[in-house]
Amino acid sequence: MGNDEYGLKGENLIQEGADFLVNTYARNPILVLKGKGAKVWDSSGREYLDFVGGIAVCNLGHCHPNVIHALEEQARRLIHCSNLYYIGPQAELARRLCEHSYGEKVFFCNSGAEANESAIKLARKYARERHGGEKHEIITMDNSFHGRTMGALSATGQQKFHKGFEPLLPGFKYVPFDDIEAVQDAIGPHTCAVMVEPIQGEGGVNLPSPHYLKELRNLCDQKQILLIYDEIQVGMGRTGKLFAYQHYDAPPHIMTLAKSLANGVPIGAMVTTEQVAQAFSPGSHASTFGGNPLATRVGCAVLDTLLGDRILENCQRMGEYFLTGLLDLKERYDFIKDVRGKGLIIGAELEFEGKEIVERCLQKGFLINCTMDRVLRFLPPLIITSKEIDLLLAALQEIFSER
Ligand SMILES: Cc1ncc(COP(=O)(O)O)c(C=O)c1O
Repeated sequence: MGNDEYGLKGENLIQEGADFLVNTYARNPILVLKGKGAKVWDSSGREYLDFVGGIAVCNLGHCHPNVIHALEEQARRLIHCSNLYYIGPQAELARRLCEHSYGEKVFFCNSGAEANESAIKLARKYARERHGGEKHEIITMDNSFHGRTMGALSATGQQKFHKGFEPLLPGFKYVPFDDIEAVQDAIGPHTCAVMVEPIQGEGGVNLPSPHYLKELRNLCDQKQILLIYDEIQVGMGRTGKLFAYQHYDAPPHIMTLAKSLANGVPIGAMVTTEQVAQAFSPGSHASTFGGNPLATRVGCAVLDTLLGDRILENCQRMGEYFLTGLLDLKERYDFIKDVRGKGLIIGAELEFEGKEIVERCLQKGFLINCTMDRVLRFLPPLIITSKEIDLLLAALQEIFSER
């Protein structure tokens, strides 16, 4: 693939972006123009292997034909319709999500933060209706990430994201992740829910011990409070099962999804049970674009493709292959402190800041990401091949050997 209409203008557009966009992202200095499968091309025609995947968005790879087909067909038929009327693909996606999870009811919105806002509101309303006015507090985890809107930000257990935006929404308590006793101690008369990512993503790819989520569910049942899973990063096949909680045999009462649900078309969802959903009635909550025909039609195509094309199996196999390769590198380089992951969310924790490694990878034609300053995070499309993984491992080996 060579240059196209942006080829000559690439540099100018990067400058225009720097001049005219609010400076909220530490952007890498390339203009990504095209994508196919696990590859993207920049405005100079340079090819990259994408191990960021839009940060866990493009699980089927870039521009998957089924996604394009669903988009094109739906765009010709109906792009938007108010939620004052029934929307076919919305109903179909809701049914499919329920069929493949513990869920019985779905509310659609447009992003992860919004999905978590709806979860927070539902948990509070449910507790109020069932237990009276005082139950409103939600326990969340240190190093969690739930989004940037004020409610989701307040749920996020990382002070660095709060700074400058106080006062936060009251009613959140933070406890260490994977510590059941800390949750037990934090539960009080005002607690209405516990909210947790089954595997923490932004917080550094942190996995729970095998029984943690089950113990959490039991504790929540015992205390009559709701368990909320934020599966925005780890849902939709990322860990090798459709939803991460399915590894741990511990369903929640509420689950939030977004990111890869429509493989890049903006969408969010909150999946819950019939009983909990009853706390919402017409007027409780809404979203103009939520569950629009375009996004939900693509969501249906994504789900069908994930489940029909043995993509979860590939994710499991490639996840193990990749993890083994990274563990080999850890054997060779003492500065790799830890390698951990499930399926194709994998972190390699370094003794030093990972920014330079990310930059060196970019120079070599690989997109990778770093979170919590020191954890290289890999979130490739779930269709990645062992050959593509080998290419990255070889590049990392070269970069590490230069240190
Ligand atoms: C676990 C988790 N929750 C919520 C969000 C927020 O999603 P969005 O950026 O779509 O609002 C993210 C985004 O990275 C996430 O990883």
